[in-house]
Amino acid sequence: MAKYIVEQSGPLHGEVEISGAKNAALPILAATVLTADVCEICDVPRLKDIDVMCRILRSLGAKVDEDWDEHIIRVDGSGISVSEVPYDLVKLMRASIFVMGPLLARLGKASIAQPGGCAIGDRPIDLHTKGLKTLGARVMMSEGLVNASVDRLKGALVYLDFPSVGATENIMMAASVADGVTTIENAAEEPEIVDLASFLNKMGAKIKGAGTDTIKIEGVPSLHGARHAVIPDRIETGTFMVAAAITRGNVLIKNCLPDHVRPVMAKLIECGAVVEDELEGLRVRGDAGKLVATDIKTLPYPGFPTDMQAPFMALLTTVSGTSTVIETVFENRFMHAAELSRMGANIRVDGRNAVVPGDKRPLTGAHVMSTDLRAGAALVLAGLVAKGTTEVSQIYHIERGYENFVEKLSGLGAKIKRVED
Ligand code: UD1
Repeated sequence: MAKYIVEQSGPLHGEVEISGAKNAALPILAATVLTADVCEICDVPRLKDIDVMCRILRSLGAKVDEDWDEHIIRVDGSGISVSEVPYDLVKLMRASIFVMGPLLARLGKASIAQPGGCAIGDRPIDLHTKGLKTLGARVMMSEGLVNASVDRLKGALVYLDFPSVGATENIMMAASVADGVTTIENAAEEPEIVDLASFLNKMGAKIKGAGTDTIKIEGVPSLHGARHAVIPDRIETGTFMVAAAITRGNVLIKNCLPDHVRPVMAKLIECGAVVEDELEGLRVRGDAGKLVATDIKTLPYPGFPTDMQAPFMALLTTVSGTSTVIETVFENRFMHAAELSRMGANIRVDGRNAVVPGDKRPLTGAHVMSTDLRAGAALVLAGLVAKGTTEVSQIYHIERGYENFVEKLSGLGAKIKRVED
């Protein structure tokens, strides 16, 4: 098993280029199932999760060509005939469920192993299935499988009890080729939803309102092939913003969309970091003065992203004063708090609230375990400023979602290396 060895590194300096967004690329690749034509997806990050999605598409009968020199994936869906996704693949990635809506729309049936819980919570799929049922699908759960079938999907009003990102995406994809109009109310508003809608519209779909809480989809008889470049990854952007701040460095973050990281920007500024919107990207400086405590509460977009909660908590362990962190999106997303406390942070967790005492308790290197993707990134950031050496294990979580993480951090002066155990 590989691990990262991270040494106290001093301020990070230089420039870093952000990759395409994993969470946009995954549903967009799933959406290629909706057509028998060829689709070309550009700026795809080279990540384990993307590899799993490509394997899923191939298992369904698609021809998938991965051009990693150009970061382009071409999907020829003419041969898609299989409607099942086995547990072997689903257990590697929950986002496998994204092909449910497209398979139903394309083949009239889908049988997908039910994803289990994970380190951050139960993560049910009831909103996905409820939405697809509203569009006329029959959905049965048995023996660990979600079996869905439909003669014709029919447009309908779908109200989501919570603005789930994945459910909004699954329903939007299925509704694109349903008979009639679908309205999704209390829809998720994340930029990845807008990117998926923009790809679907290039394929011939008629979607309006993506990025607001009400999305209207006028079903069309069929979709055609399209070419699309995915948006830059806002969570990777946020992670490097925090990396600059936590090390009291000065980093220019290129290929990012500042509008997508406003809440992270606002909280960094509250802490005393400087964030400048330059022509080439965002410059984040943690070297302009003392950093101080702030409180954060995660919320669906445009609120503070749950995926940035762990990296930001690492920063809060290094500032002056006590901060509170409230996690409202996932019920169990504080596993990194215990690991940060093993590095000396002394974070107190009570349900969905955490109290972070700040720099009264300076971090020291330790052996820590990455429990999920963003928790892993948080531990690496903490390791950059902890006294001594930090060993981060279970880094496969991190490699699911950060492209060339070690190389990008090293390019900024971080002392980090990947070693095989
Ligand atoms: C996506 C992101 C993930 C991010 C999350 C929230 C991808 C591949 N992943 O995950 O990185 O952390 O959005 O921003 O895009 N829920 C239900 N029933 C459902 C679906 C969700 O109760 O059917 C609950 C979940 O348990 C969770 C909350 O809704 O508590 C948010 O989940 P959701 O927005 O669906 O997240 P994902 O799409 O899984």
